[in-house]
Amino acid sequence: MPGKVLVTGGASFIGSHLVDKLVEKGHAVRIFDNLEPQVHNDVPQYLNPQAEFVKGDVRNEHDIRKAIKGIDVIFHLAAAVGMSQSMYDIQRYIDVNTRGIAKLLDILVNGNCSIEKLIVASSISIYGGGAYRCENCGIIYPKLRTGSQLKTNEWEMRCPYCGNMVKPIPTGEDKPLHPTGIYAIYKRDQDEMCLTVGRA
Ligand SMILES: NC(=O)c1ccc[n+]([C@@H]2O[C@H](COP(=O)([O-])OP(=O)(O)OC[C@H]3O[C@@H](n4cnc5c(N)ncnc54)[C@H](O)[C@@H]3O)[C@@H](O)[C@H]2O)c1
Ligand SMILES: [Zn+2]
Repeated sequence: MPGKVLVTGGASFIGSHLVDKLVEKGHAVRIFDNLEPQVHNDVPQYLNPQAEFVKGDVRNEHDIRKAIKGIDVIFHLAAAVGMSQSMYDIQRYIDVNTRGIAKLLDILVNGNCSIEKLIVASSISIYGGGAYRCENCGIIYPKLRTGSQLKTNEWEMRCPYCGNMVKPIPTGEDKPLHPTGIYAIYKRDQDEMCLTVGRA
């Protein structure tokens, strides 16, 4: 018997499609979203009518407790989403995103609740750049282009060891993490917080 699923940020671009799929698979679904004005100017018409909608904020304990009542599985997608904006709206990004997941974890750990699984959305941004191959040095993971490289409008990547031009190759999940924005730092932190608390 499929369980009852909560999708935080269920009104989102990605979350709304996830809700449709979960409903299609026979799950009872609840959407939890504050309908952030930067993303929505009204209740979106595309929300699945077979899903229950609960308006609330991931930073609000009362709202979260109401949203998780009777839920078996949570997909946590609610977030302020913007790599560029996160670099000039730092406090808000940390507040919504990092405080949001911290609040949710605190409630799950301390509360008397039935949650069996928490699934969070990570992001490719936690890797920074991708993997490259250098003819001399093999597979390498260059960091950001240097200031002097940018000044000469040289956009291609160079090997940090020998200075050779390098070729991009598919990036494996085991590439060392190198987040280069506040949003990416939050995503890395969220992954590690959830894996650590989940394991414990
Ligand atoms: N779109 C992408 O390419 C991409 C890639 C990787 C990961 N993700 C992740 O997937 C998730 C959904 O992303 P999206 O692109 O669909 O974003 P989106 O901007 O469409 O949706 C974010 C949703 O979160 C809600 N929200 C924002 N602040 C909230 C709060 N304080 N309380 C409750 N709800 C709040 C918004 O109202 C919105 O519905 C995010 O966690 C994002 O980081 C997205
Ligand atoms: Zn090299």
